[in-house]
Amino acid sequence: MKEKRQSKSIRNIQKEKIIIYPNGRKVKRKIKDYEVDMGERGIYNTKNKLNDLTGKEWTYFLNSVYITDFRKKEEEFRLWKYLQESIIETKYPTNGKESLGHNLRKVHPSPKPPQLMKEIIAFFTKSGGWILDPFMGVGGTLLGASLLENRNAVGIELEKKYIDIYYKVCKQENLKPQIAICEDSRNILKIDEVKDKTFDLILTDPPYANMLSRKRTGGDRKDKGSFTSDERDLGNIPYKQFLRELRNIIKKSVTLLKNKGYLVIFCKDMQPTKEYHNLLHADIVEEISKIPSVYFKGYKIWYDKTINLYPYGYPYSYVSNQLHQFILIFRKEE
Ligand SMILES: C[S@@+](CC[C@H](N)C(=O)[O-])C[C@H]1O[C@@H](n2cnc3c(N)ncnc32)[C@H](O)[C@@H]1O
Repeated sequence: MKEKRQSKSIRNIQKEKIIIYPNGRKVKRKIKDYEVDMGERGIYNTKNKLNDLTGKEWTYFLNSVYITDFRKKEEEFRLWKYLQESIIETKYPTNGKESLGHNLRKVHPSPKPPQLMKEIIAFFTKSGGWILDPFMGVGGTLLGASLLENRNAVGIELEKKYIDIYYKVCKQENLKPQIAICEDSRNILKIDEVKDKTFDLILTDPPYANMLSRKRTGGDRKDKGSFTSDERDLGNIPYKQFLRELRNIIKKSVTLLKNKGYLVIFCKDMQPTKEYHNLLHADIVEEISKIPSVYFKGYKIWYDKTINLYPYGYPYSYVSNQLHQFILIFRKEE
């Protein structure tokens, strides 16, 4: 009888959890039948069809400001610091082991931190998920997929040299190589490794129109050259044509995306001119929203603290230093 009572009380203890909210408020709450207590990670709801995250991890991702200090973050994340502060000044390492091959990837004018891509993939896919990147560069997305357990990715890139660098990084960092294809992504539906697959997520970072290849003025004079000298490169065509061609490539890509799958696009605004505001993020949202069944869901901001501030315009006029990028989030809803 005593034993029976004891096991009942153990069951009760296991079914309750103390939740500590960012403001310090503690709430004791019962774990429901469809929930799993994941310890410090929080409570996982088995009805979660989108990802493997707990409610706590999910909430962290919803913060509209993206914070990127890989070294500090693990600890701060556990303590929920990210929910308490709206901005934390941080940066990803660009040298050493934690830079994940930045020594090789820096040949590319704008490589993305694989750790950042990993977090986006962890939010928008489950274990076993497939990710597509039609503008892979030196493989920020593909490396991010390999940092997670059991994710598969396919990347397409015009420039063979970037693909070679990607595979070298995989080898150097001992990461699973994903599928990287040297092609014009306009031909995406003709590529054997892609055309019969269904993807769970499209995560991509296209050229920011002709930001790199156009003639520089004022505050934007630091010349990084273009990605390629190829006329098929979306970074080498005029702004309006870029928007149309990007839409066409994304339109083809989303035919390979599962229903309710997400499309995530990185972009950065260009400096305004007298002729045009150059709010590229707004123009991309407008353009991509023309694709049937693709709906804009909002954006996150990635504040990249590895970029230095410059005294652009001094002493004559205000010229913005753009240290942030937009992470535009769309969903396919048929
Ligand atoms: C902003 S970069 C991507 C960087 C990438 N996220 C990384 O981590 O390295 C855009 C890439 O798109 C490629 N690109 C441009 N036009 C393309 C096309 N039509 N087909 C395939 N790749 C293209 C460029 O060569 C460039 O490497």
